[in-house]
Amino acid sequence: MSCNTAVSRRLEGKVAIVTGGASGIGASTVRLFHDHGAKVVIADIQDDLGQTLADRLGRNISYTHCDVTDEDQVRALVDAAVAKHGGVDIMFSNAGIVEGPNSIFDVDKDELERLMGINLVGAFLAAKHAARVMVPAKKGCIIFTASACTEIAGIAGHSYTASKYGIVGLMKSLAVELGSHGIRANCVSPFGVLTGIVPDDEASKLMFEGIMSKVGNLKGKILTAEDVAVTVLYLASEEASYVSGVNLLVDGGYTVVNPTFINVITAGQS
Ligand SMILES: NC(=O)c1ccc[n+]([C@@H]2O[C@H](COP(=O)([O-])OP(=O)(O)OC[C@H]3O[C@@H](n4cnc5c(N)ncnc54)[C@H](O)[C@@H]3O)[C@@H](O)[C@H]2O)c1
Repeated sequence: MSCNTAVSRRLEGKVAIVTGGASGIGASTVRLFHDHGAKVVIADIQDDLGQTLADRLGRNISYTHCDVTDEDQVRALVDAAVAKHGGVDIMFSNAGIVEGPNSIFDVDKDELERLMGINLVGAFLAAKHAARVMVPAKKGCIIFTASACTEIAGIAGHSYTASKYGIVGLMKSLAVELGSHGIRANCVSPFGVLTGIVPDDEASKLMFEGIMSKVGNLKGKILTAEDVAVTVLYLASEEASYVSGVNLLVDGGYTVVNPTFINVITAGQS
């Protein structure tokens, strides 16, 4: 545990579920929530990775196999967390698969439905069953991982972009209904991050980081899963106790920049 976390454990005693918690942004968030005193249930379909992470972190961290597309499994996940820890304070609905920029003509219906099933239906079910136990408790927060593609077009595939816009819409809609019960709903929307989405070899990782460093707006830094986890921690913590209905971009300013003007001016000068 770092000095900072020893000074201030921002989730002491809270119960969190992290879907897609075995890898990438989810796994970083599990580790950070654990550092901050939370009891965490990791929910994923990568059983070995999830169980290993839970075993490594030890006390108060457990792993449950849960395919977020299956409502029975999501219901059982939430019920097991309540049975084990007495409630659920934080649902981090993060499980997802990615899709790079593509042509609509190359997307077949089965693949579209599979992606929507994991990214959007899965998020919907996680929120529904978390809300089922949060509403009687009159407290809790739901955080979704959306994407920077909800602010700027052309950086992801069509199905993926539609799924993430769907998540932002769901989040805002939930912020209204659940707000009346004292429950907050927010999204975190990262720019490109090196996670399990990139093949696990040095060449692919270097290529990914090279591209991100070149296209990113904030120079001298590459976004990491830990950076996203810190933002999720903020949204989950008391510091964000009046923050709801927000799609919080973690993109170094990428989505507010239109580089075409400056590129033309700069090219004209050279
Ligand atoms: N990495 C990026 O550049 C980036 C950028 C923006 C948004 N995101 C989003 O971040 C989230 C996390 O992705 P990541 O980048 O950490 O990738 P990742 O592949 O490392 O993690 C995703 C996790 O979701 C799990 N998962 C997939 N299908 C599932 C299912 N049906 N049920 C339960 N779990 C399932 C995977 O097993 C994996 O552990 C995703 O929603 C992704 O869309 C990623």
